[in-house]
Amino acid sequence: MKRFPVILDCDPGVDDAVAILLAKQLPELDVRAITTVAGNVEVEKTYANAHRILHVAKWEVPVYMGAARPLIGTQVTATGIHGADGLGGVEVPGAAIPPVPEERAWDVIYREAVAAGGALELIAVGPLTNLAIAFAKYRELPKLIRRIVIMGGAATLGNTTPAAEFNIYADPEAAEMVFQSGVPVHMVGLDVTLKSYLTASEIDAIAALGSEQAKFFHGILQNVLAFSTKLGLPGVSMHDPAAVLYAVDASLFQAEEAGVHVECKGSITRGKTVTDLYSDAQFEKNAYVVTEVDRPAFVERVKTLLARYA
Ligand code: BDR
Ligand code: CA
Repeated sequence: MKRFPVILDCDPGVDDAVAILLAKQLPELDVRAITTVAGNVEVEKTYANAHRILHVAKWEVPVYMGAARPLIGTQVTATGIHGADGLGGVEVPGAAIPPVPEERAWDVIYREAVAAGGALELIAVGPLTNLAIAFAKYRELPKLIRRIVIMGGAATLGNTTPAAEFNIYADPEAAEMVFQSGVPVHMVGLDVTLKSYLTASEIDAIAALGSEQAKFFHGILQNVLAFSTKLGLPGVSMHDPAAVLYAVDASLFQAEEAGVHVECKGSITRGKTVTDLYSDAQFEKNAYVVTEVDRPAFVERVKTLLARYA
């Protein structure tokens, strides 16, 4: 088994919470830190939520706060899906929220990248502001990062606008900086995350595992399930968990090498990840676009990992 150092950058967020619960149970991941960013909710809330989720997971990982706003654009949130608190209204009694450390997300990314001597991987499942700031501040950083796996974007469609996925739409300039950083970006976007869903009965089957963590998982997903059902989707898309599982086991997925740029100017296409995947004209290759998942194997993996919480 290959174990590798990672930083998980996130904006919890309901599916971010599931991603963290899974990450704890993956021995492949040596999670050096969790960094949070404004996204689904404000950054103070994503910082506090990361601590709440770690409390539920009974996991000790240092948490650092990052950017409160996108680099340039207007801030957007996704409270309609994740709730005003970011965790679907589920409270976590007993979770202590420590004061925010002085060291910021981008400085932690650089520190850990240096410490890992080129082996550090980033799994980023929120807007990419923290990563962009890290690359702008530390010019040698790209040489020190082995791979970036993101949940974000899509070769095909959007969910926040017809063109754009939420994490990219929330900070397109940051996303373009990350795609052009020189570090290979593995884009686990809507192309595959909409296929990485759990049905209501699969969610119930996980809840029936009976652990505190399984009940939390069930509770936080209820709003999103109602929202997804209203949209006519077959279940709840496990956007951020798909990125975490792809990082440790790409054999569950199919990915294709591609060139990707982010549209930062378009009036109706701002935040679109423009890929050359379906085009004769080609960009320089800077990414892998994940397009398919073995859904039965994916669901089984999620269930098995959550069953490790006794
Ligand atoms: C992404 O946006 C957020 O709302 C989710 O947490 C996920 O990272 C899906 O578009
Ligand atoms: Ca997220």
